[in-house]
Amino acid sequence: MSHNSSINRLVTKNLKKCYNGVWAVKNLNLELSPGEIFVLLGPNGAGKTTTLKLIAGLLHPTDGSIHIEGTDLQQEPIKAKTVIGYVPDEPFIYDKLTGREFIHFIAGIYNVKRDQYERKMHQLFERFDIGDWIDEYAESYSHGMKQKVIMCQLLLHDPNLILIDEPLVGLDPKSGKTVRELFFELRNEGKTLLICTHTLSFAKEIASRIGIISHGELKFTGTFEELAAISGANDIENMYLKLSEG
Ligand SMILES: Nc1ncnc2c1ncn2[C@@H]1O[C@H](COP(=O)(O)OP(=O)(O)OP(=O)(O)O)[C@@H](O)[C@H]1O
Ligand SMILES: [Mg+2]
Repeated sequence: MSHNSSINRLVTKNLKKCYNGVWAVKNLNLELSPGEIFVLLGPNGAGKTTTLKLIAGLLHPTDGSIHIEGTDLQQEPIKAKTVIGYVPDEPFIYDKLTGREFIHFIAGIYNVKRDQYERKMHQLFERFDIGDWIDEYAESYSHGMKQKVIMCQLLLHDPNLILIDEPLVGLDPKSGKTVRELFFELRNEGKTLLICTHTLSFAKEIASRIGIISHGELKFTGTFEELAAISGANDIENMYLKLSEG
């Protein structure tokens, strides 16, 4: 299929996930376009991580469909997944690999040649102040250091749909700023970002649109201006509380 920017980057229709009788995601309809940052907010247990895992193809939906750039994730999982970059909420790197070995390992999985990514990775290591840590074993990494190396590997295969669960957890303020700048660069390149966070100020800074999910259902999708109008509140915390509880 040729590149077609009018195709939605992501469409979920009536997406549902049930874990042993518990409905984690009830009826999720989302349409995301190129060049937008969509931030999913919601209380603990609302279904955010489950939603991201469904879209990343790590969980099978109980019902409903997911299309990524027009490709049905259930029917053509390998084709659909080449477009996706996913960062889970718990960063994982094999203990006995160094950060650099981990990057080469992931590049191998995506079949990306070293000369295609070496310069980009070097720039990212510098931007995230990873320094000499890149050649240390991951078992010695702090949570934040793992998160930073994982943020670098995310971009190896140049994904168009980027899914990140809690990008700020464990990051120091400077790295948080780097993440924010990186997200804007990716958005400006026409990538689509779907981010879960509990950090409302961060959501307000980066989001083109937000979604508020509660008990597996989207209670709101729209811009902050729309959220302010609907909630009748004027600060982000009260807007969020009214919509997620109401
Ligand atoms: N593997 C699992 N088996 C059974 N139930 C699960 C499983 N994973 C999640 N759940 C349940 O599904 C619901 C949604 O969980 P999920 O992790 O998606 O929430 P979340 O919005 O990411 O929460 P948090 O903000 O705490 O990260 C919760 O009720 C949770 O207990
Ligand atoms: Mg979660």
